[in-house]
Amino acid sequence: MSGCNILIMTICHGDLRGYPVTTHYSAETVFCNLISQRKITMNLEFDKPIDRKGTASQKWEKYGNSDILPMWVADTDFMSPPCVMDALHQRIDHGVFGYTNVPNELNELVIQRMQELYNWQIEKDWIIWLPGLVCGLNLACRAVGGSGDQVLSPKPIYPPFMSSPRLSDRTVATVSLKESNGHFILDFEALEQSISEQTKLLLFCNPHNPGGSVYSQAELEQLAEIIIRHDLYICSDEIHCDLILEESLKHIPVASIGEEISKRTITLMAPSKTYNIAGLGCSFAIISDLQLRKQFINVRKGIVPDVNLLGYTAAIAAYKDGDEWNKKQLNYLRENRDYLIKEINKIPGLKLLPIEATYLAWIDVSGAKLSNPAHFFEQAGVGMSPGRDFGDGNYMRLNFGCTRETLEEAVRRIKRALANELPA
Ligand SMILES: Cc1ncc(COP(=O)(O)O)c(C=O)c1O
Repeated sequence: MSGCNILIMTICHGDLRGYPVTTHYSAETVFCNLISQRKITMNLEFDKPIDRKGTASQKWEKYGNSDILPMWVADTDFMSPPCVMDALHQRIDHGVFGYTNVPNELNELVIQRMQELYNWQIEKDWIIWLPGLVCGLNLACRAVGGSGDQVLSPKPIYPPFMSSPRLSDRTVATVSLKESNGHFILDFEALEQSISEQTKLLLFCNPHNPGGSVYSQAELEQLAEIIIRHDLYICSDEIHCDLILEESLKHIPVASIGEEISKRTITLMAPSKTYNIAGLGCSFAIISDLQLRKQFINVRKGIVPDVNLLGYTAAIAAYKDGDEWNKKQLNYLRENRDYLIKEINKIPGLKLLPIEATYLAWIDVSGAKLSNPAHFFEQAGVGMSPGRDFGDGNYMRLNFGCTRETLEEAVRRIKRALANELPA
């Protein structure tokens, strides 16, 4: 069942008077009319169902025409902010889409953003634009050390952290996160024990995917001390930095905490997750050290294409005018998160810890004793990411960047399935 259908079902029947049954109205049309007539209240930006089927969406095409709710890959079902849409329309209307340079305005916006948000003074030359963050992870593995060297990665982790060292002819060793006061953090003792002569690089993820941890200043300082003492480099994937849900917390780029660690850091960021523009491929690395930057630029030469001009256009609009919209999005996501945590923890066999950032819930399903959790939940009509892909088969990752209606339906399906009442 799609989000649109669910929504219509929840509208009181009397509200549908005036819509002749012989005429086909889209869910969206009925919904928007009811809102304009103030018959239902909604959060205009985020409750509105958008039909993504038939739009070549990875998320929505995975399950074809089946009824499975796609709650896996990390993009949201929300429309990008109006400022992004307007900028893209304007750029399209220009009608000429030739080769493009990095717009100076975008570099200035990133410099200003790092200063204002993190008190981190960066320079224009430090910024390298990339068509994706996964590409940045792979380049980092190739830029640091040599063939056969070891890269450390946390576990559980977004899968490309484990594949990019191998693709770069490096070995990979994982360091498990540990749970501390309802928050997953890197086990620093285990990290130190994993470091060998061959270790050159740590791939780090902050906020962490999956698990949603936001690392504190003290944790980052401890990490930086280890990196410096062992003469390592760190590639810090901070793609989720603008999606901090816990209001008492703040994102801190690891490179911003001191000059010494900055020289050893490749920071990766993007507006893609926050403003739902992942399909436009616009990300960037920040590398302060000249030698490290040269190595990074060298390994991308001739292989990695430039960012496309629509990606740049969307990024400028998002960073220039998107903050207010994101505040509203964060409020919506917080409510989704709170609802999900409350409901999931009521279900026998499931456990969900507090989520400090991201729209990704890392659900411990081990208590349900399922032989194949991914298959089980798909059968129940909920398509989540299998924890085993992230290095821990006891978990499932659920993307709650969707309308509340969709989330509520997913929870109903999960509950029903686990109560042994699978729909026919
Ligand atoms: C931590 C992290 N890094 C990178 C990516 C993907 O980035 P991109 O699509 O820009 O390659 C994701 C997407 O889910 C992610 O969660």
